[in-house]
Amino acid sequence: MNLVFLGPPGAGKGTQAERIAGMYGIAHISTGDIFRENIKKGTELGRKAKEYMDRGELVPDEVVIGIVREALAGESCSQGFLLDGFPRTVAQADALEEMLQEIGRPLDRVVNLNVPDQVVVERLTARRTCRNCGRNYHLAFNPPKVDGVCDACGGELYQREDDREDTVRARLEEYRRKTQPLIDYYRDKGLLVEVPGDGSVDEVTRAIQEALGQGHGHTGS
Ligand code: AP5
Ligand code: MG
Ligand code: ZN
Repeated sequence: MNLVFLGPPGAGKGTQAERIAGMYGIAHISTGDIFRENIKKGTELGRKAKEYMDRGELVPDEVVIGIVREALAGESCSQGFLLDGFPRTVAQADALEEMLQEIGRPLDRVVNLNVPDQVVVERLTARRTCRNCGRNYHLAFNPPKVDGVCDACGGELYQREDDREDTVRARLEEYRRKTQPLIDYYRDKGLLVEVPGDGSVDEVTRAIQEALGQGHGHTGS
């Protein structure tokens, strides 16, 4: 199964991608997580990406495309992959199509998670993220078992710098301008499935599983 998760910031892409990738035994590739790891390690890539991320802007296409090309070549993708947060521009989507053609692994589905802006702001301003493994929590909707500690790995939870309300607004603006056109792009290719993202975490997981069981596209390997 080769999947893309589309949706505005805070739609629940990361939360659902972790679950769905686990269920299908495929690799979860989050470009945002890759950038945050690089920022933590202080790499050149991290330094470059941080400049844009802190302003809520997209990192330039040529930077992101190279990273995804590398990730897709990894051993962990041999059973399939779930791209979370990529592509985010038409240029990225075109580049992805080319890469996948080269390696002979076309997309099976593109899942678009729909959530209203108000829900996005509510979710992101109370999100906490694990510094170690990147898992996401919400202080009210999806809290960790122990305050400030990741259930999965025991890592420290922190608030992402781009989750301040004004930066969230900027990210929504970028989404609308550059990423939303991909909904029609993938609908035209017959790959799009739309899933409402504003139910509970479990409800959304079930809706995605249902959506992946039907519709057009390739049926995997
Ligand atoms: P990225 O890290 O991808 O951020 P994003 O797209 O803004 O999405 P988020 O991670 O904020 O939200 P999510 O949809 O994963 O939601 P989550 O599951 O955490 O990108 C960050 C930055 O990196 C970008 O701004 C850009 O600068 C750069 N970048 C990354 N990829 C790029 C690319 N391809 N091109 C260019 N630049 C790129 O959930 C959110 C919260 O809600 C959590 O608190 C969670 O616990 C809670 N929650 C989730 N589901 C539910 C539910 N059903 N009910 C209640 N609460 C829920
Ligand atoms: Mg995410
Ligand atoms: Zn963790």
